[in-house]
Amino acid sequence: MSRVVKLAVIPGDGIGPEVVAEAEKVLDAVIAGSDVAFDKTRFSLGAGRFLETGDTLTDDDLGAIADHDAILLGAVGGVPGDPRLRDANIERGLLLKLRFELDHYVNLRPSKLYPGVPGPLADPGDIDFVVVREGTEGPYVGNGGSIRRGTPHEVANETSVNTAFGVERVVRYAFALAERRRQKLTLVHKTNVLVHAGGIWKRIVDQVAAEHPEVAVDYLHVDAATIFLVTNPGRFDVIVTDNLFGDILTDLAGAVTGGIGLAASGNINPDGAFPSMFEPVHGSAPDIAGQQKADPTAAILSVALMLDHLGLRDHAERVTRAVETDIAARTSDARSTPQIGDAIVARLQA
Ligand code: NAI
Ligand code: MG
Repeated sequence: MSRVVKLAVIPGDGIGPEVVAEAEKVLDAVIAGSDVAFDKTRFSLGAGRFLETGDTLTDDDLGAIADHDAILLGAVGGVPGDPRLRDANIERGLLLKLRFELDHYVNLRPSKLYPGVPGPLADPGDIDFVVVREGTEGPYVGNGGSIRRGTPHEVANETSVNTAFGVERVVRYAFALAERRRQKLTLVHKTNVLVHAGGIWKRIVDQVAAEHPEVAVDYLHVDAATIFLVTNPGRFDVIVTDNLFGDILTDLAGAVTGGIGLAASGNINPDGAFPSMFEPVHGSAPDIAGQQKADPTAAILSVALMLDHLGLRDHAERVTRAVETDIAARTSDARSTPQIGDAIVARLQA
């Protein structure tokens, strides 16, 4: 055994543990017999843990998780509107805290329409692009406040933070990715209205573009980008954008490429100072939890992203190919969660 990867596994809530079980099955199968092993530690985090202990993410949890090479997360969060979770704020106190504390400044969300997948578009053409969403700044940093709350004179603000350092590092990542792909990069923002935040993004993209003459750069306002994601998604290769626009665009991107059951993501710290975290884009789906109805493909594709990030490219490609063959052969969604996982493992071994 020449390499041991320390993996933190956070199954989470609802369908999280169901899809993570299948993702682990596929991971175990793809590394079987190779010279890599995964040493896994499980962390109980999420709504379930909060209801039991009142903790969301303690400093001890954070320290222990940081001491790994990578993180695999299912999904966290309870039933929306559950009054017992009103003060938990799982999204900010757990997910965003992990992304911020572990400096996941690249939120990587590939969108690909796999052959055989019924998407909502009549004539989708080839869809294969990646959204590079900034993960540690923008309007998500919690830089705001309110006064006179609940009165007719309430004032609330939430300021978008964009630093030259933060924008430049994610833009550089996006250009490097575009170089390895089809050499096309689209900046999405709203520079005509958000002149300050948009201005810094535009200037930095123009500066970095000068170092990458082979990458074709274009710019779209976010509202126009939503139109093209539906009318001509084939025009995109790499999209780089801020935290909020990226959040919204990637849900739309997931929808046009066949749905939430297939959308994988990576929260990446490219410098390697902290472990990167890989997770399906979807949430804990309380409406179908416990029924083994969830599609584990997004979690399994997240494993492929993780393997690629860890430099295990052959393993990553084998997982992606097994998923592609499984998707192409799908005739209905009647299979259970473990049946889909087993089928993908069988494809791996074929
Ligand atoms: P959701 O993604 O959990 O569910 C939305 C719809 O998609 C539901 O009808 C669900 O059944 C379906 N769905 C989701 N994943 C699926 C899969 N793998 N296979 C088949 N169908 C699937 O989003 P929702 O309902 O807004 O949130 C539920 C909980 O999850 C909330 O507590 C929310 O805060 C949390 N959440 C957590 C995220 C994370 O852990 N990264 C991301 C988004 C939401
Ligand atoms: Mg979202």
